[in-house]
Order: sequence, then structure tokens, then C-alpha cells
Amino acid sequence: MRLLLPERRDTSPEELAAGLRLGERAPPGRPYLALNMVSTLDGKATIDWRTKGLSTELDRRLFHHLRTQADAVMVGAGTLRAERYGRMTKTDELRAKREAEGRAGEPLAVIVSGRLDLPADLPLLQEPQQRVVIATGADAVLPDLRAQVDYLRVGDDLPLLMGRLREGYGVRSVLCEGGPTLNSFLLAASLVDELFLTLNPKLVGGAAALTIVAGRDLVEPAELELVSLAEGGGDLYTRWRLGRAR
Ligand SMILES: NC(=O)c1ccc[n+]([C@@H]2O[C@H](COP(=O)([O-])OP(=O)(O)OC[C@H]3O[C@@H](n4cnc5c(N)ncnc54)[C@H](OP(=O)(O)O)[C@@H]3O)[C@@H](O)[C@H]2O)c1
Repeated sequence: MRLLLPERRDTSPEELAAGLRLGERAPPGRPYLALNMVSTLDGKATIDWRTKGLSTELDRRLFHHLRTQADAVMVGAGTLRAERYGRMTKTDELRAKREAEGRAGEPLAVIVSGRLDLPADLPLLQEPQQRVVIATGADAVLPDLRAQVDYLRVGDDLPLLMGRLREGYGVRSVLCEGGPTLNSFLLAASLVDELFLTLNPKLVGGAAALTIVAGRDLVEPAELELVSLAEGGGDLYTRWRLGRAR
């Protein structure tokens, strides 16, 4: 992997996702929030409704190392229904990296689900070591979960959720792994501070596949500034910061 901006040198996913200190940038009252997405060159977030055809081995390494940089990893219910999520920290090496940088060995998993229509047998929800917050508008509870689950009954109020994560759980940094619908609501609420976007050199076309931000229109286009750019195996690894005038 080769870093192209802000300077030219060799790099690696492990280095790109180390010592980012995202939590130090947290504004008052909520965590700092970064999105991590992969897309085709025409902005599509899926091939046949999955990310599998877009994400290379190198991208998977970056994906897992980026998780080490946040107190919490957040995901929308649509993504959970499409992708089989398991425990957030996959290896002892990743756990050690988190701890060496002063974070808990496991990030808090945050699931956003208005209707609480989630597969209870999802490996993430059956992992006893995993702490999970389910943010929902529903009153129900999911049956027979083995993970350590709290419910935050925040309706669809994402700013309230962010405030509760900061206050109640000490979360200063959130990595959100989508999906496109949740991304649009986070952007509309001005809760997104950064975007990590891997560009996989494919074109998919058509109107069916979601782009990386779908769901609702943004009142104003979000403006982003490039922080870094790397190339590896033909993919471009980009990091963007949301402009201040949001
Ligand atoms: N390329 C990538 O990097 C990437 C990343 C992630 C996902 N994906 C793909 O994207 C697809 C899924 O995306 P998606 O847009 O359909 O789903 P999504 O954004 O993951 O989840 C949407 C769901 O999240 C809940 N939600 C979102 N905002 C909410 C709010 N403000 N309050 C309460 N609940 C809220 C709702 O859950 P309920 O329906 O439970 O009410 C909503 O239906 C999958 O095919 C997945 O493979 C791609």
C-alpha cells in the first residue's frame, strides 16, 4: 500500500488505522463520529445486496483495524439483516492494539433499529463477551440473547442517542459502518465528522443498488475535505473530514 497524500511513502492498513485519537476531537455532548464505507467508482455500496464483491483482503484489514480506533462501532438494522455480524474484535492482536491505545478490548456495539426487527440468532447478539446497545423506537425485547444487551428507547432521535452514548457509556468516538440509510439520517442531523471511503475500481450501473448515502435527501450537500489518500491493489483508500459550514 502506498500513501499518496498528504505525503508519498509506503504504508499499510495497520498504520493508516493507528493512533488516530478520534475521541480527542469529540465535541461537547456527543462522540466524534466517523463513517467507514466501500463503494464502486459509481458510488454503489453493494453488488447483489452485499458488500462482499467490493471489499478486498486489504480493505478487510483496514476495516478491522479502523474498529480498533473507536470506543463504539455502530451499524444500522438493514446492514445487520444483510451481513452476518459477529463479535466486533476478531483477534487477540486487534484487542491488544485497542488496549495499548487506551481503549477497552472490545468496542461497544451499537445497533440502530426503529422496529427492532433483528435476527436474534445473529452471532453478534449471541456472543457473551460483547456489550451491545440497541437503539430503538420499539418497546419489545429480543428473546434469548447471550450478549450483554442494553436497550436505549430513543425512538428515531439520533442526536439523543449520541448524547446518551457519551453521558451514559463514556463513548467519545464512534465508527459507523453504515448502511446507506442510517448514513443519510446521521448526515442530515450533522452528526458525521469524517468519512473513510474505499473506492473499488468497478462500475455497477442501474438504479437498484444503494449508493453510500441513500434514504433521505440532504437539505444542503455535505462538503468534505480530503485528509489522506492511499492506493493498494488497485483500490483507493480515502479519508475525508466534513466541512465546518454544515
Ligand atoms: N458498501 C458499504 O460500505 C456498506 C456498508 C454497510 C451496508 N452496506 C449494504 O447496505 C445495505 C443495507 O443498507 P440500508 O440502507 O438498507 O440499511 P441500514 O442503513 O443499515 O439500516 C436501515 C435501518 O436502520 C434503522 N434506522 C436508520 N435510521 C434510523 C433512525 N434515525 N432511527 C431508528 N432507526 C433507524 C431502521 O431500522 P428498522 O428497519 O429496524 O426500523 C432502518 O430500516 C446492505 O445491502 C448492506 O450490504 C454497504
